[in-house]
Amino acid sequence: MANDWCWPYWPVVPLYPYGQRRTLIREVVVTILQAARLTMANDWRWPYWPVVPLYPYGQRRTLIREVVPETIWVFEQVQGIFYVVVPIRMTVIRLAAGGLLVYAPLAPTPECLRLLRQLEAEYGVVQAIVQPTVTGIEHKVFVGPFARQCPQATVYVAPYQWSFPVNLPLSWLGLPRQRTQVLNDPADYPHTDEFDWALLGPISLNVGPFAELTLCHRATDTLLVTDSLVSISATPPAVLELDPLPLLFHGRDQASEDLEDTPERRQRGWQRIVLFGLYFRPGDLEVLPLGKVWRLAQGAPSRRPATDWRSARQAYFGLLPWQWRPGWQAAFERASAAEAVRVAPILATVIFNRQPEAIQRWLETIQQWSFTQVIPAHFSAPVAATPEVVAAALSDPPPDAAADLSVLQRINRLLVGGERSPQDPLLG
Ligand SMILES: [Fe+2]
Repeated sequence: MANDWCWPYWPVVPLYPYGQRRTLIREVVVTILQAARLTMANDWRWPYWPVVPLYPYGQRRTLIREVVPETIWVFEQVQGIFYVVVPIRMTVIRLAAGGLLVYAPLAPTPECLRLLRQLEAEYGVVQAIVQPTVTGIEHKVFVGPFARQCPQATVYVAPYQWSFPVNLPLSWLGLPRQRTQVLNDPADYPHTDEFDWALLGPISLNVGPFAELTLCHRATDTLLVTDSLVSISATPPAVLELDPLPLLFHGRDQASEDLEDTPERRQRGWQRIVLFGLYFRPGDLEVLPLGKVWRLAQGAPSRRPATDWRSARQAYFGLLPWQWRPGWQAAFERASAAEAVRVAPILATVIFNRQPEAIQRWLETIQQWSFTQVIPAHFSAPVAATPEVVAAALSDPPPDAAADLSVLQRINRLLVGGERSPQDPLLG
């Protein structure tokens, strides 16, 4: 009867939440104002997030790690959907003649740019930006805004670019027209005194081709790839631990658990995020009926009056529409086996299976290179691997369970039977 939300006349029409009623409008306004203030004011702001609206939306933190002393740095942010967040990475390499090369740029937040400027002050400004992917919209979206922050850089773009639903020219995607070069011809590859270049693909997907520019930095024996290879760490990556909310959300077994931060919950959360990220709907996930989800949400801590609006929103108001079957960890053990380099299941099941000869051509090229580590744009990096190890990973992918692959196989069947698009130049 004493607090801010009391409604003593509730017995007249006895509906939930009875004597405790919060005023939603005030909570919503406060949340919007807080978000607006944060977006405008702080170091992590990324105002263009509505273009590709992925978590963490307008607030992106950046972690920098030096991979090879005074030569290679990785910048990491996180990105995902419904708290299924994975690291996304750009790699910065110091050029022998001075200046920097940037592979697969990230969101140029004030923090990201400040870290980059520190490298530029020491080693020279960014000379080259590589936009390596054709299909990876989660990378392409940053290239235009990033390039505008590096006015002396040339932007090198993988060939076979297309966009959906309308095939827009690159300048419409924000790339600076005067400084952009599409690498249609291997003879145009830049900085060949330091780098070997190879295009993985093109591989026809019916809607448009897949292709990815890969680079080998000879001085450090380092291979750069975007999406084609990954390595899954046994424990959560450091960049995910900066804000552990997604780990804690997925680390719960049921909606009635709160988001208390414990190492065990972070670890479980990471394992489940990996399974969602790799398989979309892992085999050991049981999707609950809507009625049950609603009932469980009523008992969730985020529904209790003591919880503030922000915490409730963070926990999706207690909605957790699945539960994990016993033994689900086995899929994670397989996916992260030895933390070795591997092909992500979506690429193995939906893309690389279409044109093995394109993969073979790429493998024959990289077999002539000498590298001992790979830096992919997602999950762990760097990962120890030679050309032989990469060849083995591509020719003999890890045995994913059939139940884990069912959604990916459905996507594959849809693409195989899909309409052929004139956007795909590989199809006559
Ligand atoms: Fe990607």
